[in-house]
Amino acid sequence: MNILGIETSCDETAAAIWSSGRTGGRLLAERVASQIATHARYGGVVPEVASREHLAVLPGLVSDVMQQSGLGWHELDSIAVTAGPGLMGALLVGTAWARAAGAVHDIPVLPIHHMEGHLLAPGLDHELPPFPFVTLLVSGGHTLLVRVDGIGQYTQLGQTIDDAAGECFDKSARLLGLPYPGGPEISKLAVNGDAQRFPLPRPMLNRDNLDFSFSGLKTAVMYAVKDIDMTDAQARADMAAGVEAAICEVLVKKSLRACSQAGSAHLLIAGGVAANRTLRRMLDAQAPTHGVGVHLPRPEHCTDNAAMIAYAAACRLQHGLEFPENWDARPRWPLQKPGKS
Ligand code: KG4
Ligand code: ZN
Repeated sequence: MNILGIETSCDETAAAIWSSGRTGGRLLAERVASQIATHARYGGVVPEVASREHLAVLPGLVSDVMQQSGLGWHELDSIAVTAGPGLMGALLVGTAWARAAGAVHDIPVLPIHHMEGHLLAPGLDHELPPFPFVTLLVSGGHTLLVRVDGIGQYTQLGQTIDDAAGECFDKSARLLGLPYPGGPEISKLAVNGDAQRFPLPRPMLNRDNLDFSFSGLKTAVMYAVKDIDMTDAQARADMAAGVEAAICEVLVKKSLRACSQAGSAHLLIAGGVAANRTLRRMLDAQAPTHGVGVHLPRPEHCTDNAAMIAYAAACRLQHGLEFPENWDARPRWPLQKPGKS
């Protein structure tokens, strides 16, 4: 079964081909074109600019993956496209393009929930662990803990009540004069920093629930930054290390608590922030003492990509799940209902 995946929900245009058989699956080809440089000068994603760039870039990326895979259109079994959540204009480019290609080549088009793609992305690089497992979805727009009892069976255990973790990285980075997206920039700057120098809060760490809150941390960073000399490279590095440690500590502690409450020995991490080195290091150090195995996608499969969209479609098909016949792009779409559009 060969599936072409298409992703255009935010600021990455992507196409990929996943092929699965009885003995497993593999990625035949993938391309991701990031718009980060285009949006960086505005300090964040500009929706209209994103849509135009998706439209300009997507056809070329699809041609590339078709060529790389060596497949003809007649050898594709379906086209999986991100139908939401995301920016409406951006989603419309991908879904309209997928539908047009599907109509021309007589291939079914399957709507995929972007977060379901992230949630299952660790399965692209290694076999998924047995159910139930817990996934921490941690991106620029979401911070969610989800119990996965099977493909399509997702229960939200906790979420952020305000900013997402990636958003906190991005806003803190801006306060430190770093470009967008801030997560990788903070991480780079933090390498030579002392995380202990500026004590920052660990919001909601000691509350007995699995929710997160990052806006107070952002405010604390705002005040702390006012007191440092921005020309002092060491002070900026120490602040970056402090921010990174505060965010990662909360993510790790709450994720391990979620595993214990869900009775799961497996934790999957997905979404852009999963690429963070400190997060990975903290998990390596702490998860084994809780009897939890950690599963992470390769860094390029943590951020937005189309391989995860094709893979999620393959998982749903393999488990006999149905796709709606009538569907539209959905900027807001609850994860609990990924099969219904
Ligand atoms: O999943 P993603 O590519 O896009 C969505 O938000 O859906 O995630 C982007 C977010 C941004 O906030 C970015 O700053 C963050 O992931 N990010 C990181 C790292 N790489 C990307 N945050 C911390 N450390 C990183 N290495
Ligand atoms: Zn994403």
